[in-house]
Amino acid sequence: MMRIILLGPPGAGKGTQAQFISKAYNIPQISTGDMLRSAIKEKTPLGMQAESIMKAGGLVSDDLIINLVKERIEKPDCVNGCIFDGFPRTIPQAEALIDADVAINHVIEISVPDDEIVQRLSGRRQHPDSGRIYHVKYNPPNQEGLDDITGEPLVQRDDDKESTIRDRLATYHEQTEALVGFYQQKEKEANNAPDYHKFDGTQDIEAVKAQILSALQG
Ligand code: AP5
Ligand code: MG
Repeated sequence: MMRIILLGPPGAGKGTQAQFISKAYNIPQISTGDMLRSAIKEKTPLGMQAESIMKAGGLVSDDLIINLVKERIEKPDCVNGCIFDGFPRTIPQAEALIDADVAINHVIEISVPDDEIVQRLSGRRQHPDSGRIYHVKYNPPNQEGLDDITGEPLVQRDDDKESTIRDRLATYHEQTEALVGFYQQKEKEANNAPDYHKFDGTQDIEAVKAQILSALQG
């Protein structure tokens, strides 16, 4: 069993690195952000509730998210573990995992300063169906504006405008960053707590990948 939490501000590279880990360990990436975006696209009740919150850079309610994740990890592809990308994002979400006896092996923090994030996210492009992530400068697709695998058009996320990015960063500092201390404390307290690793996310994508994969083999 390999369960991993990726922690870090918007644009730190959680999704990018999750895709590498997913391949290396053959476990699915569970991105609550991607799940919410597809709910919005399909106009489900969850999507209707999430849309305005996400546009404003806030957080969707803990209850909705916890139920969404609980359902997701019951699927057969999670038998050998999973990578949580963008979850938990609040202390109550982290506690819900503990209460549900969902043991975590590793918490990986990817750290990037706020200034760099604004620049990074304005260049992000994504293939909506697969979640594949690109950057116009740092990780360009083979053909401009098109997904490498399907050739379908890439899109820019609705919440990647500068003003929304700043709101998402504020939300991160107010509600999510406390999880850094939460998991570091757990590691000190208990033998069965997840291993905590911190990486400098300002390095290039390949360097961060190499360090994470080596720490996981640890
Ligand atoms: P979510 O989709 O999780 O967004 P986020 O946390 O803001 O993170 P991002 O996806 O923007 O960044 P990332 O770290 O994945 O970076 P990426 O790899 O793409 O959540 C969206 C919204 O949904 C939230 O605001 C909230 O409203 C809601 N939500 C989601 N989960 C929730 C929860 N648990 N509870 C409540 N609400 C929830 O990389 C970014 C760009 O940089 C890419 O272009 C990439 O190519 C590039 N890049 C990556 N690494 C590097 C590098 N090392 N050097 C240079 N460029 C790089
Ligand atoms: Mg992401």
